[in-house]
Amino acid sequence: MQIDVFTLVPHAFGWLTERRPVAAVLGTMLDLRLFSYRDYTPLRAAQVDDEPYGGGAGMVLRVDVVAAALDAVYGGSPSHRVVALTPQGRQLTQEIVEELAGEDALTLLSARFEGFDERILTHLCSDAISIGPYVLSGGELPAMVMVDAVARLLPGALADESHRIESFSRELEGGLEYPHYTRPAEFRGWRVPDVLLSGDHKRIEDWRREQSRARSVH
Ligand SMILES: C[S@@+](CC[C@H](N)C(=O)[O-])C[C@H]1O[C@@H](n2cnc3c(N)ncnc32)[C@H](O)[C@@H]1O
Repeated sequence: MQIDVFTLVPHAFGWLTERRPVAAVLGTMLDLRLFSYRDYTPLRAAQVDDEPYGGGAGMVLRVDVVAAALDAVYGGSPSHRVVALTPQGRQLTQEIVEELAGEDALTLLSARFEGFDERILTHLCSDAISIGPYVLSGGELPAMVMVDAVARLLPGALADESHRIESFSRELEGGLEYPHYTRPAEFRGWRVPDVLLSGDHKRIEDWRREQSRARSVH
């Protein structure tokens, strides 16, 4: 899968690419490319944004700048999905992550300041996605959230296939995962449930399903 991220802060992605799951699939199942709008802007002095028409605070990412960046990289509009990261988009869920992980290629557009010129959303993007109902200062963290969530579903990303049974998975009927415990078995009088120490795999499995269902009921 190829994921291209367009950003004003490409170096922000350093940490993400050095760690699992992304590091595990980079160069094999995942080709992650980072592009700076400033490298493609047709404007002078690496300008990428401008004041909003009608007045008001903040700067708006220009449509001609984003179009120039897409043209330079793809020679026009890409045939794959182009996702704008915006708090006004469809809210990200595990279902959407799974859907996106099935794509061969994906482009993520992030903005800063006041956000995108609306024409970027209406003419240059196929999707608008929000990572939650709150406002961050830029699209870099949302892009990293998306890359991490998608990358961990790619074959080889996780050594132990642990994403097969986890919160929101089909295996748990879309519900929340059961609780986990590790050593020590008792700490300050707080004991690990006896069933987990029993060695009885059937009972443990039943207990986990029951716990998962109980915590998934709202
Ligand atoms: C300060 S925000 C702009 C908010 C915009 N003026 C509004 O009120 O809807 C700057 C940029 O950060 C990114 N961003 C902020 N919050 C986000 C969220 N919850 N999900 C996805 N992207 C977000 C987007 O790329 C956005 O254009």
